[in-house]
Amino acid sequence: MTTAYEDKPRPRELNDVRGWFPPLDQVLFEKLLTRQEDRGERGDLLELGVFMGKSAIFMGRHLRDGEKFTVCDLFENDAPDDANGAETAKSYPTLTRDAFQNNYLSFHDDLPRVLQAPSSVVAGEVDQKSCRFVHIDASHLYEHVYGDIGAAQDILLPGGIVVLDDFRSEHTPGVSIATWEAVLTRGLRPICLSTQKLYGTWGDPEPIQDELIAMAEGRDDCDLSVQQAAGHRIVRLKGRGMPAPEFPFSKFYEEPAPRPKAAPAAQPQPAPAAPRRRSTRSRVRRVAIDVLPPVITRAVQRSRAQRRG
Ligand SMILES: C[S@@+](CC[C@H](N)C(=O)[O-])C[C@H]1O[C@@H](n2cnc3c(N)ncnc32)[C@H](O)[C@@H]1O
Repeated sequence: MTTAYEDKPRPRELNDVRGWFPPLDQVLFEKLLTRQEDRGERGDLLELGVFMGKSAIFMGRHLRDGEKFTVCDLFENDAPDDANGAETAKSYPTLTRDAFQNNYLSFHDDLPRVLQAPSSVVAGEVDQKSCRFVHIDASHLYEHVYGDIGAAQDILLPGGIVVLDDFRSEHTPGVSIATWEAVLTRGLRPICLSTQKLYGTWGDPEPIQDELIAMAEGRDDCDLSVQQAAGHRIVRLKGRGMPAPEFPFSKFYEEPAPRPKAAPAAQPQPAPAAPRRRSTRSRVRRVAIDVLPPVITRAVQRSRAQRRG
């Protein structure tokens, strides 16, 4: 039997929220969103595909006054085509909008604008050139991702950042094709690659790349490689035991109960007796008793009995 996600207790920390958002990607979201904020780059946020809200909750913390956050997910709705229906039935069979909203409200006072619909509606619902950061993580089928990338291109402000999830997973070839097609023919410029996500922009990636390279070189938990491919500088980052950035606890966080007083120290027990080994001498003596004439054997036994007594 599958358990509905809303049956689960409220999350106490971000790690309690189910999802796919590894520490390196949390570090990169934090770095890139904070960089925009520090530079005064204002704009809205958008996520396509929220599932239980792990990455949305993280992004919501970066919402500044006057900015809007829109999320889009099918939740309980039917998918727009059979292939997408099979994908969601297999991967998110009991997802509900309530489960997402309960998680989100565990960390934030207000919900983002929620579009419960296929991601294709976003192009008509979110203003062109309004967003500074778009996370594409809805359907992983080619036609959908192709459309999501086109929508992101129109919706992003100049220099805005798009993140494409699962661009190279074994089970998501459609995302890989749509992503690299966007790089080769639709003007998308890679900023960096993590294990799961490609970070890109239709602006100039180089200043951000330089900062990410410096960040990786300054940490001992982030591997870095830089390659050239088809005229693009490809910065590849890989976390090595990297911790996730600090994130505030939810409203449901409880201090761990104090540990019960330690029981009085147990009395030291005598060490168990080592298994006794017969000495070589006694073995020799037993053999002698078995082979000696009875009269001598009896004399030996008598003398041993006297010594013991
Ligand atoms: C991989 S999950 C998102 C994970 C989430 N971003 C996280 O970090 O935990 C993909 C989500 O996309 C939704 N989805 C699938 N197809 C969609 C479509 N065509 N339009 C909108 N959402 C879709 C699914 O319901 C699911 O919640």
